[in-house]
Amino acid sequence: MDLLGTLRGILGGGDLLAGEACAPFESDHRRLYRGRALAVAQPRSVEQVARILAACNEARVGVVPHGGNTGYCGGATPDETGTQLVLSLARLNRVRSIDPGNYSLIAEAGCVLAEVQRAAASAGRHFPLSLGSEGSCQIGGNLSTNAGGVHVLRYGMMRDLVLGLEVVLADGRVLPGLTALRKDNTGYDIRALFLGAEGTLGVITAASLKLFPEIRSTATALVALAEPRAAVTLLAQLRDASGDAVSSFELIPRIGIELTSAHIPGVRDPLGAPHAWYALCELSSSRPGEPLEALLAETLGAAHASGLVQDAVLARNERERTALWKIRETIPEAQRHEGPGLKHDISVPVSALPQFVERGAAWVAAHVPGARLIAYGHVGDGNLHFNLQGRGAEGAALLERSEEVRRALHDLAAALGGSFSAEHGIGRLKVAELERYAPATELALMHAVKRALDPNGIMNPGKVLRGA
Ligand code: MLT
Ligand code: ZN
Repeated sequence: MDLLGTLRGILGGGDLLAGEACAPFESDHRRLYRGRALAVAQPRSVEQVARILAACNEARVGVVPHGGNTGYCGGATPDETGTQLVLSLARLNRVRSIDPGNYSLIAEAGCVLAEVQRAAASAGRHFPLSLGSEGSCQIGGNLSTNAGGVHVLRYGMMRDLVLGLEVVLADGRVLPGLTALRKDNTGYDIRALFLGAEGTLGVITAASLKLFPEIRSTATALVALAEPRAAVTLLAQLRDASGDAVSSFELIPRIGIELTSAHIPGVRDPLGAPHAWYALCELSSSRPGEPLEALLAETLGAAHASGLVQDAVLARNERERTALWKIRETIPEAQRHEGPGLKHDISVPVSALPQFVERGAAWVAAHVPGARLIAYGHVGDGNLHFNLQGRGAEGAALLERSEEVRRALHDLAAALGGSFSAEHGIGRLKVAELERYAPATELALMHAVKRALDPNGIMNPGKVLRGA
């Protein structure tokens, strides 16, 4: 029987899409790539995933795992040949179990992140991974790209939130590993290989995830600052003053407020006068009635008196808090309204972040004078989205220079001990960057691992590693 016939036998007709029906799975969120799929498989069980991979491995057909399709690097898009199978995990979407006493739950790969957060909340627990696309991104994608977001400062990246994984290997064998253990020193950490591997080593079908005490007190402020250096200093002051209760600390440039006010209904500048930079700060605690607002107001007051902070507004209720977060979270959407732009996802040590902004902005002003710089992101993680935006024809000209701009900014990050890919992964977009910046030994080990786990090269071919 041909492969499609075999897949139909495994899935039943309705769960295997072909032709036009594949279109939503053939391009990425940013519309950087437009591929063509052989078909789209939508399995409903781990056993079906295992049989699909065994059949594709036998037929030497590439498999492209696909989650919520919110990635920025084209990692879930098939190539243009029409020979690769897209494997959508969306129908594997059960929260299998919650163990409040162990502070853990088991979720399948197709669970939407917001649903996992809700499931945890319904058991009086907190699942802290939080990002702009949480209403549509899926846990499998979060795991496979080692997603970050706005709480990394307190809770770590996705990798840090995992206790165990269930993975289907390229040849169809299932690696069972849904342990809920916090201590387990039993040899190599094989499961860790699949986190951040973007589906190039196997398919994550479920994960055992860490939960935390529910958040019961929060204080949020938008703080105006003269420069990013002040943000780094203020972050340290807040961490010290609050007993490390800072759970988010996000940098927003003036243009971020302007673009969101212009394009996103309901967004407005909450401060009376414009400022060059802002930090969105949030303190949180699991203790009810914790006086975090008073603590935040007091620390910001002292920082204002010392000249570090220019102005600040504190959220007085949940509605105002949501409004402040909306400014930060809709910057990418507002940017899309302005036309084509260049995105970068760099990280440096937090202490080097001001230097990156100063030197990066100076380079942009000197070499791409028509471009508007939109540098925002996660100060506490040293992670900036250092984006450039054109307008109309200017935008198209900017895209033509993407290679040169990328090189300058990624070289600068590397010179400061940083990374060209902080939280968005490699996908198809940054394969050459990985080759350039990864130490040769590390790259060779990556290829060796790939050969060992996927000798026929069927798992997400062309992503992360070239020719693999
Ligand atoms: C963010 O921090 O908003 C996301 O990583 C998305 C983006 O960089 O645009
Ligand atoms: Zn981000």
